[in-house]
Amino acid sequence: MAGTDPRESVHKRPHTMGRVPNVTRADAQAALRNPLAFIAARWTPDPRTVRRAALAALVMSVVIVVTGGAVRLTGSGLGCPTWPKCTDDSLTTTSEMGLHGVIEFGNRLLTYVLCAAVGWAIIAARSQKPYRRSLTLLGWAQFWVVMGNAILGGIVVLVGLNPYTVAAHFLLSSALIAVATVMWQRTREGDAEPRPLVGKAVQQLVWFLVAASVLLIAVGTVVTGAGPHAGDSSEVPRMPLDWETVSKLHAVLAWIVVTLTFALWFVLKAVDAPASPLDRTRELFLILLAQGAIGYVQYFTDLPEVLVGLHMFGSCVMWIWVLRVLLSLRERPEEMAPGAAAAPVAQEPATSASIAAPR
Ligand code: HEM
Repeated sequence: MAGTDPRESVHKRPHTMGRVPNVTRADAQAALRNPLAFIAARWTPDPRTVRRAALAALVMSVVIVVTGGAVRLTGSGLGCPTWPKCTDDSLTTTSEMGLHGVIEFGNRLLTYVLCAAVGWAIIAARSQKPYRRSLTLLGWAQFWVVMGNAILGGIVVLVGLNPYTVAAHFLLSSALIAVATVMWQRTREGDAEPRPLVGKAVQQLVWFLVAASVLLIAVGTVVTGAGPHAGDSSEVPRMPLDWETVSKLHAVLAWIVVTLTFALWFVLKAVDAPASPLDRTRELFLILLAQGAIGYVQYFTDLPEVLVGLHMFGSCVMWIWVLRVLLSLRERPEEMAPGAAAAPVAQEPATSASIAAPR
């Protein structure tokens, strides 16, 4: 009987789902040829969505540093003893690899989450109208740094956690954080020529602060390279340096950065600088104090893993704030159409130009 056939009743069921868009063969070909252009032609994200996507990429770049730290500090660096597969016979971790395998493999999987966040940032930036090439390029720059660090991470495993490669892996992550921070900032401002908010001398002082911070972070990775947290329970060669001496050099550099930050705050106050550089500098100063305190406590308490992990997180936050201080020294309103009045787009209210700002 025709009416009792269950398959027929399925076919006759009224359509309750949303209408499937008509995708023609030409559409499908265009999507395959250039998926980003295809999406951009059909979707315009809210500027807030673009900002959130950029922030998500930045947050994920910090998360991956902390989880990478967990790999090292739990001695799971060779939990997956080879790369790109986990073991010679398995792509994923196996029960014989135990908890170390789960931790190391889990960190490898997080790379995909990071890639998804960066991918979202690229797609959102590419689809924004009007199109901002510089923003999209910053997204792509992150993608290539992630690819580079994934390969470097593989090399770290293949060379048995050689400390120089571990240090380079951390430094490349800091480079990723730098690009992600710049992209996040650029999503919150326009494309007009940057207008300095402070004078040349203050800008030079901040560049000096940036350089000292880079050196501080680099020497930090050398302290780690000469220290006991090699990343695996077995014998891993360390950098042939006296740990006490490099730690002291690292602490001296931390003091230099703290002093420069304090001096900067003082100078910004003296020249009656706008609120945003002053606020960022004050925040950086507090972050540095917290980070320095963690550094000293871990130094005097035989490097407990939790504190070392926190110190790695602190280094990421401090680096982001150093860059935020640098980026707060100028403002970039939206580009004006010829004859149109200026309209500030930055999320933070446009700051009054400093007395010290050159015209
Ligand atoms: C205040 C700013 C500071 C920053 C931004 C900073 C940053 C860093 C960085 C990036 C590392 C390397 C992390 C890694 O390779 O996994 C590190 C390691 C280290 N830092 Fe600092 N640091 C600061 C202050 C200090 C201070 C004042 C001390 C006190 C001595 C200190 C003690 C250490 C020690 C002992 C390590 C090695 C930890 C390990 O074995 O993994 N840090 N730091």
